[in-house]
Amino acid sequence: MFNHVQKITKQRLLGLIGSAAITLVVCLAGQVHADEKKPRTLAEQLIHDVREGKVKANSDDAGAVQELIVRRNIPITYQTINTLMHTPNAFGPGAACATCHTGKDPAKSYRGLDLSTCKGMIEGSTEEPKRAIFQAGTDPKRDILIRRLRNNRMPLGAGFHLPSDTPNYAAVKKWIVDGAKDDEHFKKNVGPLFRKANAFGPNTPACTACHMSNQEPPSFHELNLRTHAGIMLGADSVAKGVDKATKVVIPGDLDASFLWQHLVEDRMPPGISPAENRDHPSTSILSLWIKQGAKCD
Ligand code: HEC
Ligand code: HEC
Repeated sequence: MFNHVQKITKQRLLGLIGSAAITLVVCLAGQVHADEKKPRTLAEQLIHDVREGKVKANSDDAGAVQELIVRRNIPITYQTINTLMHTPNAFGPGAACATCHTGKDPAKSYRGLDLSTCKGMIEGSTEEPKRAIFQAGTDPKRDILIRRLRNNRMPLGAGFHLPSDTPNYAAVKKWIVDGAKDDEHFKKNVGPLFRKANAFGPNTPACTACHMSNQEPPSFHELNLRTHAGIMLGADSVAKGVDKATKVVIPGDLDASFLWQHLVEDRMPPGISPAENRDHPSTSILSLWIKQGAKCD
């Protein structure tokens, strides 16, 4: 008798669980069906992705911007960019970009670059050499604007105020312009500069203190500036493979040579420490605006 009751209860219970499971399946099916009709909203998609473990956002700003804005290609308005350009510390400690790049007059605005308006941003630097600072609709990682925000001037720790018109800079420039050969000029006047402290400014370490072999660590970017072959091989030859290594010198093309860019271009805002995050969330947002076409409205 007792056993019998127990049996019935057990059966009922199983039945209950069974129907609950069926209801759940039906509900889920309904959900899928509804989804087919109407695309998920961004917020619904986010919750879905979190449940599926597809969201990698950490609690830090960079992770959240990458995951929630960049990956989802949220349209960035010029109003957002305009605010960033006028806000101090927006890309790491320092004055607002538009404070120093305030109009097209090179007597009043550095490089005649107007970062205070959308038109000015698109036009670029109006002082010679006049140039655009990005190409709308393309990945701007290597364009002037974004590399000024990401690339530290070398030797790492060099102040933004270092003059770059000294004979040593001129020797490197001539070597690249003339075809970056392993010639007498390189052996006598250029190669040794990379192995010497203070060659590109007072109290600066030798390039080879940090770029001495193809192994990282200790050599940053697996870049070997000790020899001509090492320089021409370029960066990250172990990680990417010799054929895909990042060329840092393009013979005859000064402006495209990363080594030259890193020597003469100051990271913005001026005076920012090289220890500050190179992948600042605001830089990701600015890059996304450019990729999306740099629209002014
Ligand atoms: C305190 C003044 C100051 C601030 C603030 C400043 N800049 Fe500059 N910027 C300069 C100076 C000076 C130069 C020219 C010297 C040089 O090349 O480093 C320059 C050059 C540049 C160039 C190079 C243009 C070219 O044609 O090569 C870009 C791009 C740039 N700045 C972007 C920015 C951005 C973006 C910000 C905001 C994060 C910013 N700047 C903040 C002073 C400033
Ligand atoms: C104190 C260490 C240090 C010194 C000294 C140093 N670098 Fe670097 N270098 C770095 C670090 C860290 C990076 C990567 C981060 C960055 O770009 O800011 C780097 C990146 C570079 C890159 C970019 C490589 C790529 O993959 O695009 C070049 C080119 C470069 N350095 C050249 C030089 C030259 C030329 C000198 C000497 C004038 C020099 N470095 C001195 C630490 C150093």
